[in-house]
Amino acid sequence: MNNHSFGCDFGSYHLKIYHKDTDAYLTQHNMVAIQDKKGMLAYGDEAYAMYEKAPSNIQVTSPMSYGNLASISHMQTFLKLLLESNTKGQLKGADYFVALPTDMQERIFTTLIQDSTMKPKGVYLVDKPVAAGLGLGINVKEAQGVMIVDIGAETTEISVLSLGGIVISRLIQNGGRSIDDAIQSAIRKEFNFFIGSKTAEAIKKGLACAIEPDGSSMQICGRNMVVGLPQMMEITSEFVYEAIKEQLGIIMDAVKTILERTPPELGVDIIQNGIYLTGGSARIRNLDQLLQQKSGIRVTVDEEPEMSVAKGLARVMVDRDFRSLAFVTKEQKYE
Ligand SMILES: Nc1ncnc2c1ncn2[C@@H]1O[C@H](COP(=O)(O)OP(=O)(O)OP(=O)(O)O)[C@@H](O)[C@H]1O
Ligand SMILES: [Mg+2]
Repeated sequence: MNNHSFGCDFGSYHLKIYHKDTDAYLTQHNMVAIQDKKGMLAYGDEAYAMYEKAPSNIQVTSPMSYGNLASISHMQTFLKLLLESNTKGQLKGADYFVALPTDMQERIFTTLIQDSTMKPKGVYLVDKPVAAGLGLGINVKEAQGVMIVDIGAETTEISVLSLGGIVISRLIQNGGRSIDDAIQSAIRKEFNFFIGSKTAEAIKKGLACAIEPDGSSMQICGRNMVVGLPQMMEITSEFVYEAIKEQLGIIMDAVKTILERTPPELGVDIIQNGIYLTGGSARIRNLDQLLQQKSGIRVTVDEEPEMSVAKGLARVMVDRDFRSLAFVTKEQKYE
């Protein structure tokens, strides 16, 4: 096994990389800025800073869309530039461990790395919920009946794992982004006030609460659509609570559906082990309590929820006991 290896979690909002040589994690917004439909002007956090601010000849987009690859070439270029600038040229001949989201094609995620100019040695896949479980500190190979709810930016992945494998898993296209959209559209409808998606996200981080709104408020900046001018206005946590209720309800219902489909013996394990909540959107205040209320099952939240998949990839890469959880597509054969 090659020493130069990277673990990649291609999130729709954050690209997270584990670099085994330095035992370090790298996180960047998963965004690229393309100038005149050709050259990559910026990538990562720098591209994100241009989002919703760039002139029309500069397109700022994510190479990932709702868990799937929207642009292989942009993702390849971004990954290569990022890794080159953060490593000492060890890309050629390196091994890559990639988290594979539920229902996504193994081949596309392998091709992404295999057919790139990075010239890898091997590309290994790890099911994303399995990686999340490992990153949460669970020994997924032993544990029976574990439920993991990963609420990211554009997806929520609800999975039941047992003995190192996935028993049931479902990916829905709701998450932090659909919650931001709900805030944006509620403010537009209620106040005729237009805000950008970064402002909607800041409102969510500042005021969103899954159970009791706490009475706090914040000043936001946007465009008054009646007079057409930029203005400030105040938004309360009560307003945000009402705006995001439906989106949170969709996620809670999806968890309930999976619990209903879980074989009874595994259901007993889940009741004993509790539900593990992870992904960046697990940071929404009291979301664990809401899930606990709706499911009747104890919920544990990760301390650094957006990093659990990358941390799980790291465990597969460094701990021989978990190496068997990585697999390759039928077309690939490595020594
Ligand atoms: N304090 C916070 N409160 C609420 N949401 C937050 C907070 N911090 C981050 N988030 C949200 O977490 C999401 C990013 O999480 P994460 O990095 O797990 O997503 P991702 O892995 O890129 O997406 P996906 O897995 O859906 O492809 C964003 O929607 C962001 O707004
Ligand atoms: Mg994710």
